[in-house]
Amino acid sequence: MSIKEAIICHLEAKRGQEISGQALADMLGVSRVAVWKAIKSLKSDGYSISATRNKGYMLSTDTDILSEYGIRQYMNNSLDHWQIILLDTVDSTNNYAKGIVPELQGGPAVVVADHQTAGRGRRGNSFFSPSGTGIYMSVVTQPELSPATLITVAAAVAVCKACEELTKISPQIKWVNDIFVENRKICGILTEGIINVESNTLDTVIIGIGVNLSTESFPDEIKDIAGSIGSKEINRNMLIGKILNCLSYALSSDKETILTEYKRRLMVLGKSISYMLNGEAHFGIAKDINDIGNLIVETQSGTDVLTAGEISINKDFLNQ
Ligand code: BTN
Repeated sequence: MSIKEAIICHLEAKRGQEISGQALADMLGVSRVAVWKAIKSLKSDGYSISATRNKGYMLSTDTDILSEYGIRQYMNNSLDHWQIILLDTVDSTNNYAKGIVPELQGGPAVVVADHQTAGRGRRGNSFFSPSGTGIYMSVVTQPELSPATLITVAAAVAVCKACEELTKISPQIKWVNDIFVENRKICGILTEGIINVESNTLDTVIIGIGVNLSTESFPDEIKDIAGSIGSKEINRNMLIGKILNCLSYALSSDKETILTEYKRRLMVLGKSISYMLNGEAHFGIAKDINDIGNLIVETQSGTDVLTAGEISINKDFLNQ
């Protein structure tokens, strides 16, 4: 670890509090001049670090620069073996994650980028991924949870829990895995799998999570639906660390627990919804989730079981 990295690690651990230059120098076994030079370099990287005579250096609480040490600060020790791959820019963290699966040799990892140039959503949509204001991460893992449909369900629960633990917001899930706050989508999840062709089993799963933390303006095509968490109390490192903790917990939970947690936050149950099935528009009341995460819909002519796809909640119900 370089001096700079070690310093940011200590400052992250005491965000908003001063640490004296001498204390940093002693902890790292370097001179105060070396500390000063590293701080100067961190500042030029964009870290907001104040220096007060006789008190020391302080990392401002509103600094929101991604760093491995910043993320690890909030991760449970049980995840120490997870690799963190931090990128400034990438087309899509899911694409990057897929490319490194062989070299990970089965170990868990997360790829995080400050921004994506071609962030991907479900059904060929793009995911708006500007710099500095959102979380774009892909977790590479080999979960035991099955069937695979429950992995996405677990991921949606994990993101909601992480937000609930860190902020006052109560996110809701729109089936399958869009997360909403005050009727605006703040998070999308794209889960992709790598199949072992010989055994026809799911070898590795890539769980791509995109969260709008403080993004304020969105492109025209999504500006009426997209929103942000907007909480000033949290930063990206914190939220990523928390999501990883909650995700690892959710992926190792039993099915019943995951489904109960999911249903508790589902915004569609009991509501009138519309959706496309076999190329035709359908309507019905969303009744329940079955044990593999499918949506059970009561229609005038019977019951539909939706396995994937997009649903719309009919407007009159949204305002209730
Ligand atoms: C959706 O809303 O349809 C899913 C969006 C998933 C976006 C995330 S951002 C990180 C990861 N990389 C991608 O290219 N997509 C996912």
